[in-house]
Amino acid sequence: MMANKELMSKITSLCKRRGFVFPSSEIYGGFGSGYDFGPLGVEMKNNIKQAWWNEMTKKHDSMVGLDSAILMSPKVWQASGHLSAGFADELVECKKCHKRFRVDEAENKCPECGGQLTKPRKFNLMMKTFVGSVEKEATTAYLRAETCQGIYLNFQNILNSMRLKPPFGVAQIGKSFRNEITPKDFIYRTREFEQMEMQWFCRPEEAPQYFDYWKEQRMKWYFSLGIKKDNLRTVEVPPKERSHYAKRQVDIQYRFPFGWQELEGIHNRGDWDLSNHAKHSGKDLSYEGRYPHIIEASAGADRSLLAFLIDAYHEVKGGRTKTTEAKKEIEVVLSLDKRLAPVKMAVLPLVKNKMDLVKKAKEIYKLLKSHFVCQYDEADSIGRRYRRQDEIGTLFCLTVDFESLEKKDLTVRYRDTMKQERVKTTELVEILKEKLDV
Ligand code: GAP
Repeated sequence: MMANKELMSKITSLCKRRGFVFPSSEIYGGFGSGYDFGPLGVEMKNNIKQAWWNEMTKKHDSMVGLDSAILMSPKVWQASGHLSAGFADELVECKKCHKRFRVDEAENKCPECGGQLTKPRKFNLMMKTFVGSVEKEATTAYLRAETCQGIYLNFQNILNSMRLKPPFGVAQIGKSFRNEITPKDFIYRTREFEQMEMQWFCRPEEAPQYFDYWKEQRMKWYFSLGIKKDNLRTVEVPPKERSHYAKRQVDIQYRFPFGWQELEGIHNRGDWDLSNHAKHSGKDLSYEGRYPHIIEASAGADRSLLAFLIDAYHEVKGGRTKTTEAKKEIEVVLSLDKRLAPVKMAVLPLVKNKMDLVKKAKEIYKLLKSHFVCQYDEADSIGRRYRRQDEIGTLFCLTVDFESLEKKDLTVRYRDTMKQERVKTTELVEILKEKLDV
C-alpha cells in the first residue's frame, strides 16, 4: 500500500503531465490555489456532469433542470443567512508567521512554525464584488456560494411554467465561490468550484422518507461509476456541526489519501429557504397554503473528479505488458468507468515508418473522431503507446497492423483485460458504440 502523501503527489503530477489539471495562473506563480482543467480534465469533468445530469433528469420522474445566474441580488444572501455568522469559518492567525488557519485545523500552536495563535474570529466566506461602474457599498454584490439559491428564487416560475406540483425536483450544475481561509489538498478545497445540486420539493411529512431515498440514490450513483464500496460512507452530522439551514445533514464521505472527507451533502432544509425568501421578498412562495420542504443532494464536481481519479489509479509492477522494457517499469492504469474515461479510444499504427499502415490508421482515426473522443498516436514502440493510453484510462487501443491492410480489420485491445480481438473496419463504429452504450 502506497503512502498517502506519495499517492497524492503521484495523482497531482499525473494530472499536470497528462493534461487533466494545471495550476491556475501558473506563469505568474499561481493564484489563490486555483486550478484549470486541461484537455483531458475538461472531458472527464464534462463526463461526470453528464452522468449526474442523466441520472437526475432521465432516471427520475418530475425532475427538471435550471441554469440560474451566478450574480444575484445581495438580498438573496441576506435572506438565506449566508451573510450572517452561520456561513463563516473560525479563523486563527499565527503571531509569528502570520499564516491563517481554520480553527479545526490548528491545535494550540501554528501547524507551520509552532508560533502562538491569536484568539479565533469569524470570517465570512462570501466572495464580494461590485456591479456597475462605481465601487461603493450600494453596488456590492456576491458571487454565489451555492447554486441552489437560484432554484429557490425560481420556485414559482418553475411551478407555473412546467405545470408541476410537489413532489418534484430541480437539478442544476454550476460554479460556486467561497473565500476559503485554507484552500488545500489539490482540487479538494478551492475558492472557485463546481457544484451539482438537486433540490427536491415535497410535503413536510414526506421529507424524512425522501431524505433516506436520496441518500441511498446518491450512494448508488457513486458505486455505479466504479467507486469501491470500502471507500465511501455516510456520516450523520450532529446538530451543532450542521450547516445553518439544515434540520438534518448526512455527509457522503470518500476515503481520500488525506483522510475521510466530505464528497456530497444530503440536507433536509425544511422550509428555511422558501419561508425566508417569502419573508424578505414579500412574495408568496407557498403551495396550497404551506411551504414545501426541501431535500437537497449537493455534490462537488471537482471533488468527485478527484475521488474518481484516486479510486481508479492502479500501479502494476511490470506484469501487464510482456516486453522486457515494460518489466523494468511500473505501469499505471486508470480503471475509469467507460462513461467517465476522458479518451475512449486511440488509433495506433503498429509502426510509423510504413506509409500504408500510417495512411490506413489516419483514415480510421478520421472516421472515429466524429463519433468518439479519440486520439491518434504513432510515436514510440507499441508497448509504450499502450501504457501511455492505460495511464489516462483509454478504454480501447485500436492497432492497425500488416494484416489489417489485407483483411480490412484491426485489433481492439481492452484496457483492463488487455485481451485483443480483430474487428472488421466496416463494423467498427457500430461495435464501439455498442461497447460504450452510446
Ligand atoms: N447547497 C448546499 C451546499 O452547498 P456544502 O456542503 O457547503 O452544501 C456541497 O457543499 C458540496 O460542494 C460539498 O460536498 C463539496 O463537494 C462541494 N464544495 C463545497 N465547498 C467546496 C470547496 N471549497 N471546494 C471544492 N468543493 C466544494
